[in-house]
Amino acid sequence: MMPFVEVNERAAREIERGGLHVYAQNVKKAKADDGEWVEIRYGQKTLGYGFYSKRSSIPVKLFAREEKEPKEVIWERMGFAHGWKSRIYGDVYRWIFGEGDLLPGLIVDRYGDVAVVKNNTLGLERYLDTVVEVLSDHGVEHVLLRGEGQARLREGLPKRVEWLLGRKDRTIIEEGHARFIVDVSGGQKTGFYLDQRENRKELERYVERGDRVLDVFASTGGFGIHAAVAGASVEFVELGKLATELIGENLKLNGVKGRIRQGDALDIMKRLAEKGKKYDVVVLDPPALAKGKADLNRAKKMYFRINELGIGLLKEGGLLVTCSCSHPITPREFLGIVEGAAEKHGKNVQMLGELRGQAPDHTVYLPQPETKYLKCLFAHII
Ligand SMILES: C[S@@+](CC[C@H](N)C(=O)[O-])C[C@H]1O[C@@H](n2cnc3c(N)ncnc32)[C@H](O)[C@@H]1O
Repeated sequence: MMPFVEVNERAAREIERGGLHVYAQNVKKAKADDGEWVEIRYGQKTLGYGFYSKRSSIPVKLFAREEKEPKEVIWERMGFAHGWKSRIYGDVYRWIFGEGDLLPGLIVDRYGDVAVVKNNTLGLERYLDTVVEVLSDHGVEHVLLRGEGQARLREGLPKRVEWLLGRKDRTIIEEGHARFIVDVSGGQKTGFYLDQRENRKELERYVERGDRVLDVFASTGGFGIHAAVAGASVEFVELGKLATELIGENLKLNGVKGRIRQGDALDIMKRLAEKGKKYDVVVLDPPALAKGKADLNRAKKMYFRINELGIGLLKEGGLLVTCSCSHPITPREFLGIVEGAAEKHGKNVQMLGELRGQAPDHTVYLPQPETKYLKCLFAHII
């Protein structure tokens, strides 16, 4: 008999609605070993198939609605995602965005002939060779597994960082008019923030030669490099050592100049304000400050403070590009925070177009609302 997990009515409704997660409190019975591919049942009914992880707060993740082998599901889902994502982005894209691409817990970023894999699903770890097979079938020659982070430990998966195929620690990608070094081994996350690619390109449309731009929480220089390529005079603010070094290398790579300020963004913004500095454009792209509901209030205060400081550095009628990648903060709440921060300076927010989000390769799957997480506002503060 196939291993199975029996779920309660609540989980059954959730799955029938399109959901992919079964929470621990909704599991009635499990006849399966840790990490096994299981049938998901509600009474006599089969709801689907997925992986079981007994110590996880989400012990069952659904991967298929019909009876299939995990290998088949991986080939199908990765093939589908590759099909449409490579049409828009060539060979640089987020190939798999976990739940968004219906492979829960799996992240795959492709940078040309190099791919970086992250996995937070216990059972899927046994099938990483299938993931590598699919990648190599589409021309990827180097695959790095960066199995790090808390979510992995919560699943009972140890830290595991190793090359699963070939080895290439750094590569160069093109994005609009800019080029970037991606350090897949040492860089943050998978080496680059692909989710902001459309917003970075958008910034080029607003920047003119001679504009003064402040790129805060710059990482390897994403927004600022685009602005510098468009002719702006750019200052970067970033805490990370490797990231700031890469800003320097990215400036050289693009044949442009800029000033790099390494340190805490809040301290630096306060200092700039004390010196009376003003900019035509301020970009604010902090890391995810709220990971869950528990730290929501603290995170909101932090976003408020960051935006208050950033807005204070804008020239009259300047452009604010402000982002939040915290999924628990709703678009409405985020706009409210920015509005409140502007009010502190006696100003108002004039939105330029709609509130923007993540690039389309970071697919939003509506039954899993946390897949929609990035908010990016372009606004004049007047
Ligand atoms: C979401 S990333 C920025 C991505 C970047 N805008 C891009 O397009 O590539 C956030 C960055 O903020 C940096 N960071 C985190 N805390 C910081 C702090 N207190 N001061 C300055 N930078 C910080 C992180 O090192 C990370 O590079």
